[in-house]
Amino acid sequence: MGKKISVIGCGKVGATSAFALAARGLVDEIVVMDVAKDKARGEAMDISHGAIFTDTLVRYGEYPDVAGSDVIVFAAGVGRKPGESRLDLAAKNAAIARDAAKEIKKYYDGGVVLCVTNPVDVVTYIMTQELKLPKGAVIGTGTALDSARFKDEISKKLGIAKSDIMASILGEHGDSCVPVWDMTIVNGLHIGAYCFAMGIPFDETIKTEIFADMKTAGADIIALKGATYYGIASAITGICKAIVRNSNTMMPISAKLNGEYGIHNTAISLLGIVGKNGVSRFLVPEIGSHELALIKESAARVKEVIDQM
Ligand SMILES: NC(=O)c1ccc[n+]([C@@H]2O[C@H](COP(=O)([O-])OP(=O)(O)OC[C@H]3O[C@@H](n4cnc5c(N)ncnc54)[C@H](O)[C@@H]3O)[C@@H](O)[C@H]2O)c1
Repeated sequence: MGKKISVIGCGKVGATSAFALAARGLVDEIVVMDVAKDKARGEAMDISHGAIFTDTLVRYGEYPDVAGSDVIVFAAGVGRKPGESRLDLAAKNAAIARDAAKEIKKYYDGGVVLCVTNPVDVVTYIMTQELKLPKGAVIGTGTALDSARFKDEISKKLGIAKSDIMASILGEHGDSCVPVWDMTIVNGLHIGAYCFAMGIPFDETIKTEIFADMKTAGADIIALKGATYYGIASAITGICKAIVRNSNTMMPISAKLNGEYGIHNTAISLLGIVGKNGVSRFLVPEIGSHELALIKESAARVKEVIDQM
């Protein structure tokens, strides 16, 4: 049977993701849906014309079409306005997620639900609770985008190819996210060893600069052009690829935690193994006590919002 991805919410993020998925020819069929039905119909037609080169069927659909999906991407909601924090959006988008979960539940027959809507960790948790799918089947993009931005900043600062950098941001997709320097590798060398070999001082100043630039990147883009969507669309494509190819790729991914690092009843990103069933397990490698404390604080911060929903 052909591979299929459904995208719920065909705004800037949903439509760009559908386009990125179609342009890559990752699956046979992409279905887009939105409360703004005509918008979704128009996007489906437009993307479909481009998808002629990858033989991808791109079409408009409704909730019954989530049946048979390998991945259900949830990107419906309200976008962050300039000056608004991701957590400000929680109440509005939590309600949209709950309504969508009721509909998804009616037609769900397998596959992974990938939440994108912000605050993505809170939405991932709510979807998990509402859908009650097998463990790991509801995931969120979490810090996938933050990690991509982190690698981009490291690459610019150190003057080294992005593809040489393995680095992850863990915790909340938001203000309390945590850079894990211990796990930052430049083609096999720890970043500290790489900098030493290159004569670059690897000190608190450079770390603070890289992290600060990464952290403000989202708000900077929103201030400049009103929204961010290309970066997240690429992150979504990467996660969908790991799922449809069942590649067991290790990546930062958000899901409800069950005691990892002693964290319960919240969702944040840790390093997970992603394949056809979603996140099959999280890794809990030893990390510095300072970073671990920050990850726990970040988890507590997301839980505080969840508890208010
Ligand atoms: N996780 C991340 O890293 C990341 C990055 C960028 C944006 N986002 C989030 O993605 C979400 C979408 O952003 P956007 O820029 O595409 O916003 P947008 O306003 O362009 O699109 C949202 C779409 O959702 C639709 N929608 C609203 N309620 C719906 C419902 N009940 N059912 C179906 N569709 C519904 C709207 O009609 C609209 O087309 C936002 O929450 C945004 O914050 C997340």
